[in-house]
Amino acid sequence: MLIGKPPGIPASAITPREQYMNRRRFLRTAISGAAATGAVAFGAERIAEVLSPSAGVLAGTKLQTVKSPLTTTGEQLTSYKDVTTYNNFYEFGVQKYQPAMNAGGLPTRPWTVRVEGLVKKPKTFDIDTLLKMHALEDRVYRHRCVEAWSMVVPWVGYSLSEFIRQCEPLSNARYVQFLSYYDKHVEKWSSESTIFWPYSEGLRMDEAMNPLTLLTFGLYGEVLPNQNGAPVRIVVPWKYGFKSAKSIVAVRFLDKQPHTTWNDMAPNEYGFYSNVNPNVDHPRWSQKTERRIGLPFYAQLRTTLMFNGYGDQVASLYNSMDLKKYY
Ligand code: MTE
Repeated sequence: MLIGKPPGIPASAITPREQYMNRRRFLRTAISGAAATGAVAFGAERIAEVLSPSAGVLAGTKLQTVKSPLTTTGEQLTSYKDVTTYNNFYEFGVQKYQPAMNAGGLPTRPWTVRVEGLVKKPKTFDIDTLLKMHALEDRVYRHRCVEAWSMVVPWVGYSLSEFIRQCEPLSNARYVQFLSYYDKHVEKWSSESTIFWPYSEGLRMDEAMNPLTLLTFGLYGEVLPNQNGAPVRIVVPWKYGFKSAKSIVAVRFLDKQPHTTWNDMAPNEYGFYSNVNPNVDHPRWSQKTERRIGLPFYAQLRTTLMFNGYGDQVASLYNSMDLKKYY
């Protein structure tokens, strides 16, 4: 059990104890290992050649990006350090500081993403093919966790819709499921929680096709650090962070709503939709406000915005739905 404040994590970034204990009632005590990452910059064209000892791409490898009209402006970015050391990635430990220490062994090369289910024909995409499928955009998004903290993150990626078009889903595909990498030998910490692995998340097709839904390869202009879901993850900015599956290896098109990790764990607490909604409290805490990680204590608290502030782009997806019922 963690007793003291871990080194390098500001007190401001620690989840309040009560909230932390609540969320962790599913999880057993964690232990931690250690791994260091390098920080060397290379051109995007060399990514495939720049392999780390654990067959990954070195953290710090630059990506070639273009500006995006879908970026959120005007808010102070959360520091690289906070974005990459305050993480939820339970395969690598249940404490926020653990993924940064433990995810060094995630083998991010070679890496493939399987496409299966209701598609014209099943396909497998290599990560380097995915990286070249569309121009990579810099997209600053607000990132709101169900635990009532938030960040502002400059992600790198392109709309998931670009990828979905290449998957050629059939007309009866109504949902898409994302499955994360799972190897209990690499992700030894996964046995410390009662989650059924692999981590699974899903979206309705129209949510997945919304231009804001980002197939994400990097942050701060560089490849994703392992702890943030290298080499490829989903980011859905108007939903709580747990909808954004990390390190995905399979994308499945379905006619029925897929099972999803946190909904399996506690369906009364974590709905399938999980849109950021200040009017629907979590059964054990309010969702009306959030703490912005990394700001001075007096400036952290802010009002949570409906759909995390992305209502103009996404509210119409839920026009006919009772969002108290479909939380
Ligand atoms: N994906 C996997 N595979 N495993 C996880 O534990 N945690 C989720 C989500 N994706 C998680 C995951 C949760 S709870 C959050 S808040 C975000 O990742 C955190 O993303 P970040 O660490 O990049 O901020």
